[in-house]
Amino acid sequence: MTSSNNTTYWPKNRYLEVYNRSIDDPEGFWADEARKLDWFKTWDKVLEWKEPFAKWFVGGELNASYLCVDRHAKSERRNKVAYYFEGEPGDTRAITYAQLYREVNKCASALKKLGLTKGDKIGIYLPMIPELPIIMLACARLGVTFTAVFSGFTAQAVADRLNDLEAKILVTADGGWRRGSPFPLKKVADEAMKLAPTVKKQIVVKRTGVDVEMADGRDLWWHDLIKDADDYVAPESLEASHPLYILYTSGTTGKPKGVVHSTGGYMVYANSTYKWVFNVDQNDVFWCTADIGWVTGHTYIVFAPLCAGSTSVMYEGAPNFPDLGRWWDIIEKYGVNVLYTSPTAIRMFRQAGEEWLEKSDLSSLKLLGSVGEPINPDTWLWYYDHVGKGRCPIVDTWWQTETGGILISSAPAIQMPPLKPGSASLPLPGVAPQVVNENGEPVPAGERGLLILKKPYPGMLMTLYKDPERFKEAYWNRFPGNYLTGDYSIQDEDGYFWLLGRADEVIKVAGHRLGTLELENAAISYEAVAEAAAIAKPDEVKGESITIFVILREGYHPSTPEEIASMEGAIKKHIRDTMGPIATPERVFLVKKLPKTRSGKIMRRLLKAVAMEAPLGDATTLEDGASLAEVQAAYEELKGQV
Ligand code: PRX
Repeated sequence: MTSSNNTTYWPKNRYLEVYNRSIDDPEGFWADEARKLDWFKTWDKVLEWKEPFAKWFVGGELNASYLCVDRHAKSERRNKVAYYFEGEPGDTRAITYAQLYREVNKCASALKKLGLTKGDKIGIYLPMIPELPIIMLACARLGVTFTAVFSGFTAQAVADRLNDLEAKILVTADGGWRRGSPFPLKKVADEAMKLAPTVKKQIVVKRTGVDVEMADGRDLWWHDLIKDADDYVAPESLEASHPLYILYTSGTTGKPKGVVHSTGGYMVYANSTYKWVFNVDQNDVFWCTADIGWVTGHTYIVFAPLCAGSTSVMYEGAPNFPDLGRWWDIIEKYGVNVLYTSPTAIRMFRQAGEEWLEKSDLSSLKLLGSVGEPINPDTWLWYYDHVGKGRCPIVDTWWQTETGGILISSAPAIQMPPLKPGSASLPLPGVAPQVVNENGEPVPAGERGLLILKKPYPGMLMTLYKDPERFKEAYWNRFPGNYLTGDYSIQDEDGYFWLLGRADEVIKVAGHRLGTLELENAAISYEAVAEAAAIAKPDEVKGESITIFVILREGYHPSTPEEIASMEGAIKKHIRDTMGPIATPERVFLVKKLPKTRSGKIMRRLLKAVAMEAPLGDATTLEDGASLAEVQAAYEELKGQV
């Protein structure tokens, strides 16, 4: 593609020019991107690709906390706000880069005094408060690899992660605010610590001020540690492949996967994608509404905006507290220019009605983003018309915990392509997606298939923690040399990608990933349950909801409608208590049999058809035809009872 004709301001198809270069000369391209960061030592080699293990910027050394705070604290951005924090009760903090620098150094010093050094692991279990990015950056400063666990997770989920990581310390808070009440985070952290013997100390942030029990010699107040800490700790010079963090996510087995992200490749990718997609100017205010406990928050609340020296909003609480006007209030109050949120949130607001938006001045907005699940065209249009008032382009950003940053999205900072509601549009530079059939052959434009990635890029996970075999098995074995995303997609005639949801046994509830097997294991860990099968049903707000079919063990025979309802309630509660509120099933159906193949695999597809009252499709591989009839009969009988 030439760009010589008609060039006035910039080349006619700047996107293609940038994209083609990234594919033809990836190492040159990524080296140029990497040079936009400050390195303590330049790399010797851009990419070492020992399929499927990629090492980026080999020999290079850097520090993520240096990039995110030191550079800005020692520049004209010193007094620029890094975070506008808005607590749910209405308390606020504006934290400048200079203040962030001081707090990160103090926190790193405190960790160091507790004996933590490069290579150690810690767990972070905090609500959305400024101490969360501060501790993440303090860890990054020392080369301590952290895992941040979403504050809605249960003690068991926290403990599983701490144990897998052999974490030494858990950082938590006395609580956080949610819908007007403090939630008792420390109690859950204490439970988790009972199940995680490697964790010897707990650091506790005072947030809500509720009374908590501090275990003598084990629990330490954050504010006490900070009081005695030094003002400066030199950032470690870390090799580019030093693991910055490990983030656990659901896969197709019962055990969450520990996704390992590097320091060098990840930071380069976070920085570049943030600039390409959000096009944030120095005076802009950026607001990503995700929780930092998920990858979206790691990359686009913490590492990318700080690396770029942006001002971000960070909000602690629920979108509907004290009412559905809260978000719009926040946009007006801080003059938010770029809003990045999820289709679930947009659907919720759409259902509630436009009047909530009309109370606030949203004229500061100039770009809107969406992430986490497919956004249906109606929701897209509502977002465009009512939030963006018809003047803000929408970037629909497709990516995964594993990819570290956005892969498919419009990139306004390069060239904005024409918008198509519901399509994430084109791959970002360096990303090579393709839609293939079951045999790995490319399918024609307009045809649905499996989405694979044909090239490594710097944000890509390095491996799964302590499990390189599972890393190969989960992503690479199916189509050797290519990364299997697990998503269905269509590429249309214009080259646009339409992401159609998961092709594997992963359910997305309000944008959060849950494995069917994890849900089934949680159900089976209830004493009355012998077998379980989890399926997803479309949900108007949450995208998908969970339905579970269970077979009870001998000796459990609820027979009256009241007994059945109480058993359903008990199983729901058990799953919620085991996995957290996100995992609460919409319905639990008690059945006598489950439809299985001859090899014993549960045919979830048939269960889904039953629950959706849809045609059953091919049932020839079913071992016992009567099982399906029984499930249907049980469903018909129970569907009206909640
Ligand atoms: O199915 C895709 C969906 O979310 C999955 C990744 O989930 P997770 O690792 O939790 O990361 C979510 C935040 C990056 C993908 O495999 N997904 C994510 N973004 C989109 C999407 N589906 C459609 N459109 C998107 N924009």
